[in-house]
Amino acid sequence: MSLADANRKYFDTIGDAYDNKPWFAKVNQQVTDALRARLDWVGIPFVNTGSASSSNSEEGKIFGPYVTVTRGIDISPNMVATYNARARSAGLPASTIDAVVGDLFAPEQPKGLSGPEYFNFDLATVGFGFHHFEDVVHAARCLKQRLRPGGALVINDFLEGGDLKADEQGNPVEGSKGNHAMHRHHHHGHSQGHSHTRADDDPAYNVLEEMNTSIVVPSFTQEGVKKFFTEAGFVDVDVIIMEEKVYMEFAGNKIWRTILLAKGRRPLDDVEKLKSEL
Ligand SMILES: C[S@@+](CC[C@H](N)C(=O)[O-])C[C@H]1O[C@@H](n2cnc3c(N)ncnc32)[C@H](O)[C@@H]1O
Repeated sequence: MSLADANRKYFDTIGDAYDNKPWFAKVNQQVTDALRARLDWVGIPFVNTGSASSSNSEEGKIFGPYVTVTRGIDISPNMVATYNARARSAGLPASTIDAVVGDLFAPEQPKGLSGPEYFNFDLATVGFGFHHFEDVVHAARCLKQRLRPGGALVINDFLEGGDLKADEQGNPVEGSKGNHAMHRHHHHGHSQGHSHTRADDDPAYNVLEEMNTSIVVPSFTQEGVKKFFTEAGFVDVDVIIMEEKVYMEFAGNKIWRTILLAKGRRPLDDVEKLKSEL
């Protein structure tokens, strides 16, 4: 199974259950607040920047209040359906916000995604996506091709070594800093005390197994992200670490994670390349 298939399969299985947990709403809110406090840092001319700065994340559409049109692309039909259903129930028409199914990194793009309305964006954003992508330089390059010269790519993902274990009550365990996100993968032979029988019988572990299959790296270093943005041809690259950690649960595994935010801009003189790419 290709990684693209693994991603489609995993996210189709979880669909809207992906972010309907109370702890996930909190994660979304923290990322929303962090990015809305840094609109200048993104470096593109947003609209309505005086408004909505502390309102809730409107189902995760962090930049929604500051842009005119949003176009989503996701490989999972279920994630796309959920996204569009939420936009409609928030009263937003498809002309303003709409997502379509597509593999952003496929060599051949389907007709719908090769049209001019899917290019020349001021901003491209990927939330918690890059740890699922096989070739992060290729991924960043594909996104760059969809930006106008001067347009920005903004991503958020997890910081390597930035996890803390949480106790039963969800409180961070002092001195537990490290990588704790994927340690219960029962096929790796270091199953940390969980027997194969338990893992195989427990549906939560099987979902975790599918999640692990769709993840390439669980986290990134600040330098690593800077490097792959630069290699993909971005300029004005900056990677910052969110001070506040976020609390997450995966199949009974309670952890606090650290999030990094990264941005880069398509060079203004990238026009010639734009022409030859199209
Ligand atoms: C962890 S989810 C993040 C969802 C959302 N961006 C957020 O911030 O909550 C990662 C998403 O990346 C999508 N994805 C993975 N590979 C992809 C690809 N090649 N093209 C488009 N979407 C992809 C998955 O289907 C999934 O919805």
